[in-house]
Amino acid sequence: MCGIVGYTGSAPACGILVEGLARLEYRGYDSAGIAIQQGGATEVVCRRGRVAELAGSLAPMELGGTCGIGHTRWATHGRPSEANAHPHTSCDGRICIVHNGIIENFAELRERLIAEGHAFASDTDSEVVAHLVEARLAQTPVAADDAGLRLVQAVADAVCELVGSYALAVMSDDAPGAIVATRKDSPLIAGLAPDGAYVASDAIAMLDATRDVQVLADGQIALLMPERITCYEAAGDGLAEVEAAAVHIDWDMDVAEKTGYPDFMLKEIHEQPRVIRDTLAGRLVGNSISIDELTLSAQELNLVDRVCIIACGTSYHAGLIAKNLIEGWARIPCEVEVASEFRYRNPIMTPTTLVVAVSQSGETADTLAAIRDARVKDARVFGITNVVGSPVARESDGVVYTKANKEIAVASTKSFLGQVVSLTLLALLLAQAKGELTSAHIRQLYSELADTAELVERILADTSAIDEAAQACKDAASALFIGRGMGAACAHEGALKLKEISYLHAESYPAGEMKHGPIALIEEGFPVIAIATASPTYDKVLSNLQESRARGALVVAIATEGDEEIRSHADHVIYIPPVRDALSPILASVPLQLFARAIALARGCDVDQPRNLAKSVTVE
Ligand code: M6R
Repeated sequence: MCGIVGYTGSAPACGILVEGLARLEYRGYDSAGIAIQQGGATEVVCRRGRVAELAGSLAPMELGGTCGIGHTRWATHGRPSEANAHPHTSCDGRICIVHNGIIENFAELRERLIAEGHAFASDTDSEVVAHLVEARLAQTPVAADDAGLRLVQAVADAVCELVGSYALAVMSDDAPGAIVATRKDSPLIAGLAPDGAYVASDAIAMLDATRDVQVLADGQIALLMPERITCYEAAGDGLAEVEAAAVHIDWDMDVAEKTGYPDFMLKEIHEQPRVIRDTLAGRLVGNSISIDELTLSAQELNLVDRVCIIACGTSYHAGLIAKNLIEGWARIPCEVEVASEFRYRNPIMTPTTLVVAVSQSGETADTLAAIRDARVKDARVFGITNVVGSPVARESDGVVYTKANKEIAVASTKSFLGQVVSLTLLALLLAQAKGELTSAHIRQLYSELADTAELVERILADTSAIDEAAQACKDAASALFIGRGMGAACAHEGALKLKEISYLHAESYPAGEMKHGPIALIEEGFPVIAIATASPTYDKVLSNLQESRARGALVVAIATEGDEEIRSHADHVIYIPPVRDALSPILASVPLQLFARAIALARGCDVDQPRNLAKSVTVE
């Protein structure tokens, strides 16, 4: 949540910062601002709203400075407003900071700083950092030859007082051309390019300049100068130089562009066949599934007697799908729990529990906290994430990447399918280790899994039935998604997708629960979206549809090609190609994504940046 970018070099900083912020806007878009050093002082410009508002205000200003920091905000403390927008400044305006995270002890720090004479201009928790650095800088001995290092020391001293999470970039008028950056529990990446040094919360903001980046670890402090980046860590009373982890980013630059699509969401939905193929590449060796990154031997895998999947949001729904596969194929008990509940529940873990943490961003605060808790309790943690070098990747015992490449739209689509495919592979691996499936069976399932890429392409080739169903439902006040088994898990994801991008209230229920309450919602024209694909419970779902229609529901059914019977139970039928029930979520999810998008567009919503949301939830 919140995006940070900083640049110091030989080029004008303004354009670089605005471009970087536009790329980071998926992290938050309540307000945006930049600070640029100009002729011995710092110019700060902030605007409420999107980065485009800020860019419009900056255009006539012709800021020529070559060192600056910028921020795009997702509000936590203090409503979205110009006063609460970052960068924040110290009393004398000579220190400027941008912050991502939450300073939990800001109230007491603020009170103390006010008592010491500091004046605050915003309601944010972040502003305390500017005043703390100002106070610390005043106490730090002047080393005339290195103002940058003095700022590093002041920031190091200031962050010692912070409780909470932070990624920070700090500038001081006393250290022209220097940016100091540090982090705790919030990502921060630095990169040196021919035109200068960059820092950002995500490499995407600097991809045009460099693909070789340094991923700062918690507690590391980087000093960025136009021709160098030096990294420090606290050592005794002082600071010691250290190396940050070097990572090469190999995404295609197209990830940051819509490449002809009207929005990122549609582009990313269309990338899904590629994601399936890339996620599967190299995973079948002979007749065996190979996931070496799991770092468990076949013998250790055989000892796994319980799987716990922890995740949030869409990633949690991928976990619900995987539960069916892990229990069905590997016959290992599997629980799926939202990370925010798991972390405070004091769950029972043993060394033979395999915890699977699923997170697109790899930086979701609750998922990270749950990983830490599970590891303290001796469980082995396996991460499934989309972001190389992310905290989930670093803090898990083993990690697999979903190969979705950067996902920009706030609503997860391609990363979800990447997660489902990765979890399907994990279920096959566990079944193999437990001897529950023969090699021939595993090869067959893998081959059918690989075929889903082409089947998704077929769904994407003709979306007319989806668009018609969306038109019929677009004016509803509420909708119900139902299914059984695999269909129930898909229903949860379909409802989440619809509500997050179209603001149309949606609920999801296992279809068998209808008579236990939700059926009371149904009245004339109420949309019921049913996952009614070929499955062992198909007939039961049909009964639920009859019950819904008898009460006036407008039924949209996702069904299997060749099923003509469904037409007499539904007002709109969206067909997907035939596939075994275990793999049906990979196909059924795609029309649900397109259905949500079509309704959102019909209701005039911004599908890439829905209100109140941010793509990475780095705070609790
Ligand atoms: O990055 P993560 O997978 O950990 O994120 C979890 C959720 O915040 C995320 O899936 C969210 O629900 C998306 N907006 C869903 O589209």
